[in-house]
This record gives sequence, C-alpha cells and structure tokens, in this order.
Amino acid sequence: MTAALTDDEATRAALAQLRANDVGTFVKPAERQYPHQWNWDAALVALGLGLHDPERARLEVRSLLRGAWRNGMVPHILYHLGASDYRPDPAFWRTAEHHPAGLPTSGLSQPPILASCLHRLHALAPETERAAWHDFLAETYPAVLAWHRWWHTARDPEGRGLVAIVHPWESGTDDAPRFVPALARLRPTAVPEFVRGDRTHVAAAERPSDDDYARFVHLIDLYRALGWDPDAIWREAPFRVVDPFLNAVLHRADGDLAEVARLLGEPTDEIEAWRDATRRAYPQLWSDAAGTFQAWDDRAGAPLPSSGIAGFAALWGRLATPEQAEALRAAFADPAAYAPVDPAGVRLATVRRDDPLFMPRRYWRGPVWIVTNWMVADGFDAAGMHDAAATLRDDALALTRRHGFHEHYDPTDGTPGGARGFSWSAALTLVLEREARAARLEA
Ligand code: DGY
Repeated sequence: MTAALTDDEATRAALAQLRANDVGTFVKPAERQYPHQWNWDAALVALGLGLHDPERARLEVRSLLRGAWRNGMVPHILYHLGASDYRPDPAFWRTAEHHPAGLPTSGLSQPPILASCLHRLHALAPETERAAWHDFLAETYPAVLAWHRWWHTARDPEGRGLVAIVHPWESGTDDAPRFVPALARLRPTAVPEFVRGDRTHVAAAERPSDDDYARFVHLIDLYRALGWDPDAIWREAPFRVVDPFLNAVLHRADGDLAEVARLLGEPTDEIEAWRDATRRAYPQLWSDAAGTFQAWDDRAGAPLPSSGIAGFAALWGRLATPEQAEALRAAFADPAAYAPVDPAGVRLATVRRDDPLFMPRRYWRGPVWIVTNWMVADGFDAAGMHDAAATLRDDALALTRRHGFHEHYDPTDGTPGGARGFSWSAALTLVLEREARAARLEA
C-alpha cells in the first residue's frame, strides 16, 4: 500500500498527470486507452485546469467546440489526430458529410456538462481573470446554446420535456445496468466487422462485455445507414431511453446557461421554457417502490428498473424534492445498497450492491468514479446534507491520493481499475480539493 499524498503533493501530481496527457490542443482522457478528445472529459478537464491555467483551459474548450456540427450537435469523440488503435476508428462512423472539414468525429453526443463547467469557472475566477472568462463566455455562448437546442429538438422532437438517448454512449455510462433490458431486446444479427481495441490496454473484466459491444456497434451501424439524420434516427432507433442521468445533467446545464445568458444580456425565454418543461416532466421518472428515479424505455413503454447512480443525478440537477432527497440519502446510508460493509470499502458505488448486475470492477456496473462522487456531493450539499457530501469528497480524495488517478475504483476495497493516468480523475481532484477546503472553512 502506498502512502497518501499531502494537499500540495496531490495538486502537483494532478497537474503533472494533466500535462502528461496533454497533446497541446487537447488532453487525452488516458494516454493509450482514449487517445482522442471526448466531450464531457474535455469539459471536466477544462474545469480542473481552469483553476490553475485558465488560458490552457479555454484552449481545451475551443478544441471541443471546433468539432460542432452545423446542426449544433457537439460530438462525443473528436479525432483531432486522425486514426489510432482506438476503435471505432474515425472512418467507421461515416460522418464526413457532417463533421467540420479536417476534424472527423463520432455521430453521437455525450452528457452536456460544459455549460455548468464554464459557469463555475467564471464564478470562481479571481478578479484578475474575470474579464477574460466573461469574454470567453461570450465567445462560446452561441455554440453551447446551439448544442442545448440540438438536445431539446433532435432528442425531444415531441416536446415532452425530457430528452431520450439513442445509444448508451450518449449517457456517458455505457454499460450501466439500467440499459440492459433495452439492449437485450436488440437483435444485432448483421453486426459489421469490428475488432475491439478497448481490451488492449485495460483488463477485459473491467470493460463492457462482448454482448454489450455487439449492440453498441449495431446501433452505430443503423444510424450511419440513416445518414445521422436526427428525424430518421428518432423514428427508427430501436434503443430510445429517457435517462434520468442525462436529463439531470442537461437540466442543470440549462440553468447554468441561463445564468450565463443573463451575464451576457442575452434573452433567456427559450432556455427557461426548456427548464419549465423538464421540471414538469422529470417527476414521472420517480418510483416510490424503488425509492429512486428510473430510466424509461420508449420502445417498451415501460420503466427500466435498475437505476444506480443515475437516480442520484437528480440531486446534481436540483430535480429532487426534499422527500426524494431523503430517500436517496437513506439508500446511501444503507449497507444493503451503497454504504460500505467493511472498513476498506468506499463510496459511491455506481450500482447498488444488491442489484444482481452489480460487478465491483466492471466499468459502469459498480465501480466508484470520481466524477459521480463530485456530482452527488454537490447535490447533497445543495439539499443541506453536508455530512453525506463530505463523505463523498473525502472518499474521492483519499482514492486519488492513495492510488493515483485512475478511471475508476473498486468500492469494496478502493483498488484501481480501468485506464491508468485518467485525466478527469486528476482534474476533479483539483476541484474537489478546493471545494473540501471551502467546506472546512464554512463549517
Ligand atoms: C469507450 O470507448 O469506452 C467510450 O466510453 C465510448 O465513448
């Protein structure tokens, strides 16, 4: 067991990790496993970097927004450096008609957390940086607004107030149990030739299964055949899921975007209308029996029972009533659900321990992720549940200090899993340190 780092050492180590993954114009999420720019990784990297090197953080966001499509969509992967051993490679997506010249991209999007990161960077900026962040908000506002509009139209064309994702990758939590029944119904019979590259640098037991991948690839194949036309995808998608996680991220980001609009003197009516509609519709995702929010399977016309971390996202999105927040806290404290059962255990497992699909080391099937600890801590604080928030921050910081910056950690004993040298775990360590200091001062 390695010794834990001190505050200063942890800050230096996090910055060194981000430098090590920096190719100049973007930071790879992980040197070998993820050698391109990913959407929500870039936003979180910018947030952490922005506290120490604002100019570099702004460059990260500019690189991300360079990938925006004409219809406003900001893709989930940007292949700035062309092909690598990562699969799918750029050609697989067949997005040439849509992506900006010279910058191949995927055809899907990812959790729109960027507006929340930009708003926070402006709010936290020292006086000397305020004007630069204000100018940057003005520079990026049209692209971020267009992207939110894309979510609210392409992924909610019927104006239900909740968007639906058409691929688990759009949730950022690819193989989470809540998607399993919706994926199980797919019959990926003619899956195109696809060699998995994701188990070259990471153990197979920590990656999604072959069954999951066959379906991930099958869905891409269907959508590329539809020319990535959002209307056709909405009509034809065999996987269409209203995800409490994605909707909570979008709702919070809409709120932060509205704040940015106000700072810039821009109208907010359109954004406020999205927010009202989501506030009205989101309660339908609550299940009294389960004591949490659940995804909804549009194709089956039924809820998807397993929810895990996605249920807690309502706290981040400010979408839980006090009673719902209390039910989530009860699960958080329950050893049958999320509370560790032995002293080496850490929170917050991304899946309940009593879920039959819980696997402590497999990707989004159970491991602790620094990003979700950070988001849920923020949500518990907003609900006045400061002890729960402090537990999550302490556990996240203890993990990165003791083990370094990894993709995820086993909730039963804290041992690392997934990609090593993971950028957002480093970036969010910088953010969490700052928040933990502020919370200590307030106490
Ligand atoms: C991966 O390759 O695992 C990514 O999560 C897809 O975006």
